[in-house]
Amino acid sequence: MKKEELIKLAKEARANAYVPYSKFQVGAALLTKDGKVYLGANIENASYPLCMCAERNALYNAMNHGEKKENFVAMAVTGKTTGPISPCGACRQVISELFPKDAPIYLTNLEGALQETNAVELLPFAFDDSDL
Ligand code: THU
Repeated sequence: MKKEELIKLAKEARANAYVPYSKFQVGAALLTKDGKVYLGANIENASYPLCMCAERNALYNAMNHGEKKENFVAMAVTGKTTGPISPCGACRQVISELFPKDAPIYLTNLEGALQETNAVELLPFAFDDSDL
């Protein structure tokens, strides 16, 4: 699947966002090596710290369907930002553990801005299982 197609699916995933507080819809689309795509949107809560980002929902959605880190080949994330969307610190930590280090992550906005990055760039010097 082309990255443009994955980015389009991330945009479509925004429709499932539940964002009564921020009104800021984010969508993520996670591609597996079998060509399956798992979507995630951000889901908020009146107890604000319980809000869950689109990126983590996409990863957890895939894993809850039996997918493993080794199967993930790319992820696209998008929102209505000025430039490419920037994943939060919590998502960077989760991505660093659950997403392959060198697989492309496409950070985009609704107007076509695109920054291609990866888990290591997003969170250098990450805390991981080797620290325990
Ligand atoms: N959010 C995401 O889902 N992903 C990001 O990359 C940035 C932030 C969500 C969390 C919250 O629901 C809303 O956007 C505003 O922070």
